[in-house]
Amino acid sequence: MKVQPPQSIPSQVHEEDQIWLTSIWSNLQTKMSAECARIGSRIPYIPVDGHYEDLGEKDIYWWTNGFWPGMLWQMYRATGEMDYRLTAEKVEERLDAALSGFTGLHHDVGFMWLHTAVANYRLTGNPRSKTRGLHAASLLAGRYNPAGQFLRAWNDDPGQNRAGWMIIDCLMNVPLLYWASEETQDPRYRDLAILHTDTVLQTTLRRDGSSNHITIFDPADGSLLDHPGGQGFESGSSWSRGQAWALYGMALGHRHTHNPDYLDAAKRIAHYFIANVSSTGDLPLVDFRAPAEPVVYDTTAAMCAACGLLEIAEAVPAYEQRIYISAAVRMLRATEQQFVNWNPEQDGIVGGGTEAYHGGKQEVPIIYGDYFFIEAVLRLLNRGTHLW
Ligand code: GLY
Repeated sequence: MKVQPPQSIPSQVHEEDQIWLTSIWSNLQTKMSAECARIGSRIPYIPVDGHYEDLGEKDIYWWTNGFWPGMLWQMYRATGEMDYRLTAEKVEERLDAALSGFTGLHHDVGFMWLHTAVANYRLTGNPRSKTRGLHAASLLAGRYNPAGQFLRAWNDDPGQNRAGWMIIDCLMNVPLLYWASEETQDPRYRDLAILHTDTVLQTTLRRDGSSNHITIFDPADGSLLDHPGGQGFESGSSWSRGQAWALYGMALGHRHTHNPDYLDAAKRIAHYFIANVSSTGDLPLVDFRAPAEPVVYDTTAAMCAACGLLEIAEAVPAYEQRIYISAAVRMLRATEQQFVNWNPEQDGIVGGGTEAYHGGKQEVPIIYGDYFFIEAVLRLLNRGTHLW
């Protein structure tokens, strides 16, 4: 069969879905314009009684602190409105306290600076932002463990040494290293990104298309020790946001390397994810392998997975694209119908986000659910910008 090159995503979207997207885009502009004016450079996470507190005051190191500026840069790219850009730039400056403070930073420097400084540099060429991005990339590279060939997750807790810990989420931080190599023409960052991704393939992804959350190695000799349950139900279960990090992370690995093994892995996880949401109305439960009760959803997993599915769609021939695009649209539409709050006077867009199976907040709006919703909608409209 003659391979048909990928087609643009919007051209593959059903007419009825196009109409839906046009109305969503109009709602998003109203909501985001109101939020931008109200929230400004405060750093949102989870709204309390419909309003965000400033997480920057409470924890400038928190891993989600880049998602609000990421939303603002996406909106700036899509609308050209300067308020979005100026607000994103102010948050980027606030995060300098975290860069210089250092001690609270961990593997999530990618989430924090890809969506702030690197986004700014990519869209405006700001040299100060480039320096911030390279600084963050060097911190991430410094977390590499040569014995186990992985980027270390988190920092120690009192009583718990985590020198040998790797988590699936970190795949989403790795694109910071690919960017740094492109900018500096120094292959070292990229080499570490590839070594880490290969370790994930060999030790953390399972053959059935699911993924562990945490992998623990002996930090001195690199031997594999354990897979605790992490934010999922238990060891061996299948935390849905972890599956989404794996899906999108592997697809991004393919984008940056063209390694077909990474695309195959992303597709296996995608097929597993699509199969799992097919019996729950295209909405993921917080863990795909947990007891039937309680029923708790996590829309953030759906939103991140939707972006990953669209990333795969950009990498496969035209005749393969539909399965990924239509699954992404089904998850977006199901989430919008059941969980989205379009009231411009209240903060938060996508409800139904869950921090973890055990503990944490459940079925609430979480800022990264909003980010991935906007990214997915703008990808489908071909108006977004690539931040990974
Ligand atoms: N990366 C942390 C989480 O997904 O909750």
